[in-house]
Formats: sequence, structure tokens, C-alpha cells
Amino acid sequence: MEIGLTEYLPTPITRDMVLDQLRPKLIGDAAPAQNDRGGHVVSICGAQGGAGATSVAINLALQLAETTKAKVALLDLHLQGGETAVMLGVRPGPGLRIALENPMRADTLFLERAAIEVNDRVCLISGDEELDAKLDITEAGVRHVLGLLRQRFNYVVVDVPVPFPASIYPVIQMSRHVLVLLEAEVTGLRNAHALRNAVTNIAGKDRVFTLLNRADRAGGLPRATIVKALGAEPDMIIPDLGKGMTQAVNLGVPALKHVSGLRRHLAPIVREITGVGAKKSAGWKRWLGL
Ligand SMILES: Nc1ncnc2c1ncn2[C@@H]1O[C@H](COP(=O)(O)OP(=O)(O)OP(=O)(O)O)[C@@H](O)[C@H]1O
Ligand SMILES: [Mg+2]
Repeated sequence: MEIGLTEYLPTPITRDMVLDQLRPKLIGDAAPAQNDRGGHVVSICGAQGGAGATSVAINLALQLAETTKAKVALLDLHLQGGETAVMLGVRPGPGLRIALENPMRADTLFLERAAIEVNDRVCLISGDEELDAKLDITEAGVRHVLGLLRQRFNYVVVDVPVPFPASIYPVIQMSRHVLVLLEAEVTGLRNAHALRNAVTNIAGKDRVFTLLNRADRAGGLPRATIVKALGAEPDMIIPDLGKGMTQAVNLGVPALKHVSGLRRHLAPIVREITGVGAKKSAGWKRWLGL
């Protein structure tokens, strides 16, 4: 399952391609590109608890695979109390913890042991460690696991714990897109600002996107307040999709199969990530991260 053909197929120009090719010439940034070869990493992080990070990570992974026909890994770095497996109705083993703690033990068989097939194209890599377990996740382990996944999958969608433990900084550094999710609440707004700064410090400002989830939810802050506090319109928006989202969690099925509107709202996010059908209206400054 090495990445092959897709790398050679002509694809529409994406923001990342423009960035990678032009920015060094335009602004004299001679630093080597942070993203070496391999699958495209997309990190999903919630600015507040329950912002919808896990729901977005799962359904985005599924829709990316469906739209692009590519192989997608869904990596859940919440090894204790992570919810991806519960939401997908599967039970993970100890493989991910072992690999993250001892990279030397994570050989090419790691994936066969740790990955759970969600469908033909999507695999879940997650753990289910006891809440009182003392984990010793190392940066080397995180780099190694991500490297293995990037060799075998075209996209790696990561459900990232917040605040970021230092050991997972490489995930943020290797991400081409970091989605910071918030709801229309004071807590989300406050934390989104701090989280965007943290991502920018680790990976650069052109990687971070604000996703307002459950927009227009009853009782939420008005749009104008949100825009003022963020200093800009959110980059992406998903409206409140009602009780079907929670029902899907309780049924252990992806919301994409249960909530009819979700696919339509994820489509612009998939387009931003893949560049397929991306809008050309984005300002050049934003495209170039200037
Ligand atoms: N757009 C939406 N409309 C309605 N319900 C939603 C929406 N997005 C997420 N939810 C629901 O909100 C709840 C919390 O979502 P989720 O578990 O994905 O958030 P999270 O950010 O991963 O939370 P945690 O901080 O616990 O990791 C779930 O019941 C989910 O179904
Ligand atoms: Mg979660």
C-alpha cells in the first residue's frame, strides 16, 4: 500500500503547492520545507471540551477517503478515554501505546497489529489504556508512528489532545492543516485565540484554520461577537446539526451515515484540504501566508 500513482497524477494547484514553491522566492525564506514526502497530515483540535473535534476527525477522514478514493488513517492520540473507537463501535488493542513508548518496537508489522479497518480505505489507529496508567509517550515514538503512517496512507487525520503535550509537537509540525474547533461560547473564543497562537508558534500561521462548530446553536454568542473576538471570520463553519449527531455517537455509527446534512457541510473542508475544486477567491496574501 505504498503511495505511488496519486503522487504523479496532475492535481489542481493547492494553497500548499503555491506556498511550497513560491514563498521561499518571494520572501527569501530559505528554511527547508517542514513537510517532507508522505501522506498529508490534518490535525483536529478542540479549543474547548465537546467542541466536536472527534466527530469532525472521524467524519472528515471518511469523507476524504470517499471523495478522493485515497487511503486515510485516523490517528487518535487520546490514548486514555479516547472516543474515536467508541464512536466507530470498535475496540483497540495495546499496539499504539507500545509504538509510541518504544519506537524501536514499532516495526512494519505495527500497522497490521494496531490498525483497525473501518472500511476499504480508512483505518483507525487508537488506544484504550486505563485512566490511571502512567504513559511514557516519547517524541521519537510519535515521529516514528507518524512516519510509518505517512508512508502508507495518503492522508492522516489526527484527533489531537489539547493542551498539546510536548511529545506530540511533531504532529503539529508535520501538519499541513490544523483545524482549531470552537463553539459559539465565551470559553471557546478565549481558548481558540490561545490555541491558534500555540499552533502558529509550533508550525507557522499558514497551517491554522478556525472551525466554528454548531454555529447558530440556540443560546450561542452572536456571529458579530465571534468575528470581533477572533479578529476575523471563522475559516470554516458547520451549523448545529441537531440530535442526530448525538444519536450517531450512541449507536456507534459515523454521523456521516446518520445525519444527512453533515456531508454537505464537510465538503468545503474536504476541498480546502485536497485542493480539488478549491475556490479561487481566497486572497493571495492568505494563500501565500504573508
Ligand atoms: N455540528 C454539530 N451539531 C450537533 N451536534 C454536534 C455537532 N458536532 C458535534 N456534536 C455533538 O457534540 C458532542 C461532542 O462532540 P465530540 O465528542 O466530537 O467533541 P470533542 O471536541 O471531541 O469532545 P472532547 O473534548 O470530549 O474530546 C457529541 O455528542 C456530538 O455528536
Ligand atoms: Mg474528543
